[in-house]
Amino acid sequence: MAAVSASAPGKIILFGEHAVVYGQPAIAAPLTAVQVTATAEPGAPGSGLVFYAADLGQTVAVTEATPDNPFFNALIYPAQVLLQHLRAPTPDLRLTVRSTIPIASGLGSGAALATAIMRALAAALGAPLTDDALNPLVYEVERRHHGTPSGIDNTVIVYARPVYFVRGTAPQTFAVARPFTLLVADSGQSSPTRLTVADVRDLHDADPPRLDALFARIGAIARAARQGIETGDPDSLGPLMDENHALLRELTVSSERLDRLCQAARDAGARGAKLSGGGRGGAMIALVDETKIAPVTAALGRAGALRVLATRIAGGP
Ligand code: MEV
Repeated sequence: MAAVSASAPGKIILFGEHAVVYGQPAIAAPLTAVQVTATAEPGAPGSGLVFYAADLGQTVAVTEATPDNPFFNALIYPAQVLLQHLRAPTPDLRLTVRSTIPIASGLGSGAALATAIMRALAAALGAPLTDDALNPLVYEVERRHHGTPSGIDNTVIVYARPVYFVRGTAPQTFAVARPFTLLVADSGQSSPTRLTVADVRDLHDADPPRLDALFARIGAIARAARQGIETGDPDSLGPLMDENHALLRELTVSSERLDRLCQAARDAGARGAKLSGGGRGGAMIALVDETKIAPVTAALGRAGALRVLATRIAGGP
């Protein structure tokens, strides 16, 4: 068998995170500037499945791994889910995994790792998967990362195209009538989505009517944003991003640093800004005109962003 490689992009949530867990619509897009790549090569007979996490220089054998292994959720569990799905015994393979997606950054590293690993493994076993077959398997892994995922992260990463997503329904694609540019900044604060999703659940349990009203307002923003994107009015997204960020603050999932980064972006000329993903750290996004890419990038750096990427949202069905 020759070596087989597969990859998966990161993701950004444009509108609707957290509310999407409760049935409201959300909009997400792939972030192709960051990627996970998995390469499967034949291993020695009897070696079993061995992962090599190249960025960390660490090797992990599936046979030795128990759920308390720090690599279990990210590397081993996706392989187990896939092997179970294919009803295949553990193969003698070496899987090298590389990632440029920062962990716990709100950019979908867990779902991208699972996607790339399952794709490479399935191809190496001669049973390549369609995106439709792969998506529920990656969702299964997401459930392990954080108990009640909406399914938006796995969906946008597996299909690698912008989606309008409502939990429990097929993802909808939409036309981007006029492309627009987003800056994506890593706050440098790592924050597992599992924790913020659990905290929002506690808030919801304590006061369902108040939280449902907040979620409904976020859902209305996501619907308005879709209309702005489809009708070629991306500038309308700026105020919607600011409003969505304010509602996420009310959900207690922002942080002092994320607020500072959003304000710095607006002050430097961004049309709007918000946190993106699970929150309390991780990523934020800012809508910018081409002429504002450089000054807003610089302002985000001064406000403490670890790195800033520009991504263009374009295309459609
Ligand atoms: C995380 O990228 C998005 C959240 O809405 C969680 C989810 O949808 O599963 C915070």
